[in-house]
Amino acid sequence: MTGRKVKYTGENEMGKRAVRAYNKNKIWKFKRRLEMKKAEIIVDRYYLTGEVDKRIFGSFIEHLGRAVYEGIYQENSPFADEQGLRKDVLALVKELQVPIVRYPGGNFVSGYHWEDGVGPKEERPSKVDLAWQVIETNQFGLNEFANWAKKAGSEVMMAVNLGTRGPEDAKNILEYCNFKKGTYYSDLRRKHGYEEPHNIKLWCLGNEMDGPWQMGHKTAKEYGRVAAETGRLMKFMDPEIETVACGSSSLAMDTFGYWEEEVLSECYEQVDYLSLHQYYGNRDDNTPEFLANSKGMDEFISSVLSIADCVKAKKRSKKQINLSFDEWNVWYHSNEADEKLEKWVQAPHQLEDVYNFEDALLVGSMLITMLRHADRVKVACLAQLVNVIAPIMTSDTGAWRQTIFYPYMHASVYGRGTVLNTLVKAPSYESKSYGEVSFLDSVCVWNEENGELTIFAVNKNLEEDMEVSCDLRQFADYKVAEHIILTNDDMKAVNTESNPDCVTPVYGNASHMENGHFTTVFGKHSWNVVRLKR
Ligand code: AHR
Repeated sequence: MTGRKVKYTGENEMGKRAVRAYNKNKIWKFKRRLEMKKAEIIVDRYYLTGEVDKRIFGSFIEHLGRAVYEGIYQENSPFADEQGLRKDVLALVKELQVPIVRYPGGNFVSGYHWEDGVGPKEERPSKVDLAWQVIETNQFGLNEFANWAKKAGSEVMMAVNLGTRGPEDAKNILEYCNFKKGTYYSDLRRKHGYEEPHNIKLWCLGNEMDGPWQMGHKTAKEYGRVAAETGRLMKFMDPEIETVACGSSSLAMDTFGYWEEEVLSECYEQVDYLSLHQYYGNRDDNTPEFLANSKGMDEFISSVLSIADCVKAKKRSKKQINLSFDEWNVWYHSNEADEKLEKWVQAPHQLEDVYNFEDALLVGSMLITMLRHADRVKVACLAQLVNVIAPIMTSDTGAWRQTIFYPYMHASVYGRGTVLNTLVKAPSYESKSYGEVSFLDSVCVWNEENGELTIFAVNKNLEEDMEVSCDLRQFADYKVAEHIILTNDDMKAVNTESNPDCVTPVYGNASHMENGHFTTVFGKHSWNVVRLKR
């Protein structure tokens, strides 16, 4: 854009006025652009980070709060299908195109007896769940979940109990799920009405075993040994499966680093992925600091990779361990309310964070961060999917999308392909926790087959728009198809049952492609998805 005026040579008064107004507006816009913060995105179609494994858009359903009961399953609801699965929830999950869902926990799995949740429902026992101090009725179990996942178009990522149980039980559940027939557990599954095996490929060896809150909490050495033996037995049974070892429950754990090294030293050859978990909160109501957390996530990923590769080098192994970021999200809004909840009831309103607009920005930045590590982060699960720290909420009268639903959906739907190594040159700010933080988080994903190039970006600047350019001459035959924006004047704006569309995406028109030169404006505090098509 230039600030050059246009001339009007006619005599018509209206015409003169229109041209004067046009020129004034043009000059004002030009000046604004001159003053705007500027940034550059640099990509090269031959300089690739790696293929996106679609499983990084996974999610998580735990037997916790109203995730299962009143979430994905509610037998007497008008929204339920013939199997008691909520159709309104399934429709929203399909919008998200969730490729894989972790189940049944979380902390819950460390005391779970999966046999309690299979077979005739009237014979299933109610049990105490010590993880969340509630009653579990077992009216929903692994077969119902496998059914649900099929309907949702998702794969299952199953976790085994390495808290109160061990390798023997892990072998049994695998036999129940994946063995064709002719053995005790495979025939039990068939007797329960599931002739064909569920063929579950991805298995978590326990959950957060480094955490003192975990049932059956272990030292790194103890856990590493159990993970090795469990992985070995499971792969004897089904060599096609992949296993995930527990990494640290967060970067803040005192044992972080030591835990990863010790665990991998014990089980390196038996596992395929190491897990990472991380939740963030804006407890001090400092939005720039809160939004800086994606830098923390980036450093967390890099640190775990260094440790995994260090163990690889020490072992002189040919095998590479990749990462499963199988719990990530914002989680803090519900903490206080949860402390006051009544114990030993069924499916209470636990961990029901109501997400605001700034949470959606951080979720967008976290997705960008994982995409930028697509070469090594192969699985990730937004924790969780329905009602419990979730993008989808339900009540007896319907289901709605929280603010974080949108960046998650956009990344899942448009983020498949190859990540281009995306260099971002942008102004930065100083954060207490992470030092210098870029105002702009961005990544480009190229889907060569479909002829689509997508730029994901978060402008974290709360005061100013940012003018961004990118040399896309290698993609000169691509045109801007759409620019999707999520923004709001109120950083604390939320979507609720009575006002479900307070924060929803809009379309922008500031993105242009001219002779391979791409320019756009990312508005202050905004999530952006620019889709270019051949
Ligand atoms: O996702 C909620 C809980 O957070 C999970 O049960 C646990 O693994 C983590 O601490």
